[in-house]
Amino acid sequence: MPKSKSARSSPSASPSAASAEKLKVAIIGTGGISGTHAKSVKACADLDMVGSCDIISEKAEKAAADRGGRAYTNAEEMLDKEKPDLVLLCTPQMARLDPIRFCAERRVPIFIEKPPADTLDRAHEIEAILKKHPVIHSVGFMCRYLKIVERALRLIKDHKLIMMRQYYFCPMALPEDFKRIPRFYYKKELSGGLVVDQAIHFLDLVRYVTASEAAEIQAFGNNLQHPKEPEFSSDETVTINLRMKNQVVVSHTHTWAYPKWQSEVELIAVGAHLRINLFAGSFKGEVDGVQVEYSKEDNGYLTELQAIVQAAREKSMAPIRSDFPDAVKSFAVTLAINRSLESGERLVPES
Ligand SMILES: NC(=O)c1ccc[n+]([C@@H]2O[C@H](COP(=O)([O-])OP(=O)(O)OC[C@H]3O[C@@H](n4cnc5c(N)ncnc54)[C@H](O)[C@@H]3O)[C@@H](O)[C@H]2O)c1
Repeated sequence: MPKSKSARSSPSASPSAASAEKLKVAIIGTGGISGTHAKSVKACADLDMVGSCDIISEKAEKAAADRGGRAYTNAEEMLDKEKPDLVLLCTPQMARLDPIRFCAERRVPIFIEKPPADTLDRAHEIEAILKKHPVIHSVGFMCRYLKIVERALRLIKDHKLIMMRQYYFCPMALPEDFKRIPRFYYKKELSGGLVVDQAIHFLDLVRYVTASEAAEIQAFGNNLQHPKEPEFSSDETVTINLRMKNQVVVSHTHTWAYPKWQSEVELIAVGAHLRINLFAGSFKGEVDGVQVEYSKEDNGYLTELQAIVQAAREKSMAPIRSDFPDAVKSFAVTLAINRSLESGERLVPES
């Protein structure tokens, strides 16, 4: 997405009817999130799952048996044999560079899960690969594709935004989830922890909604539910303040120590305020003195898939709301937040 393209310009994500021919889709990394994307693929009559690749052969085989197509443990072999029209990259962020290079070198469009990489140096290496081998691609910031977000932004497009107040609460630090969820999420040295892996969705949304970059950041955190230890080096509860270059101020609170999955984003503008419930797919508020309320079945994962399918068919990045260089800017914000958590200082992100 070009830097200047703000959320308020509402790019279209509708699937194209340009071609009736089915697109061949392959997945690299067949863990938890790949299941969500495989369901979206199944829901699209114009897509055909042709391959599943995982370094763990049993996982690749199970995925292929459940979802269709053949199983592989070598991504290059899958690309060369199946010749997919689109790859969904669902590996952990520590394993992004090679699969992106394999796809880019073969000019295969690629959907890349967030966060874009595990370190800023690696993110810049990937950027260089995508510059050398330009290919249709998208990074999985699905909040940008939510219909409730789109609708809310349309409603307040003529109202000057003043503040965003948002939170995301979930039970990932509670014993049951800690047992069930893959280890890398909890290891800050691998995934970047709560901020880089999960809060990134909301910090990316802030950049998208405000159409501005962070000028200053300050964050505080604690681990009062699950103290830090080698298996849990992530921060568990954080509060983050941002001042954007256009003066909008933002407060994001995030905890893994809450018994339910819950999240809201509140937009406060001159003459309008809206409170968006991301899990319920609804918002409520007031615009120019009129009460507004909206609720819609909303599947951002499906809409973001439809956007890259459209992009792949039309050989155009126009439907994509988050390209790799833009995603790296959100990633840089989260790294600055992690530095602030460690130092307590007010910082500016480095990109
Ligand atoms: N957008 C979202 O809402 C969302 C939600 C959950 C996870 N994610 C992201 O998706 C990614 C994967 O998360 P997950 O929960 O599915 O993890 P997971 O551990 O369940 O699955 C990852 C899979 O990738 C495989 N893998 C690792 N290296 C590989 C390689 N080089 N080639 C092929 N396969 C490889 C692993 O064996 C594993 O099966 C993470 O980056 C995570 O942040 C995004």
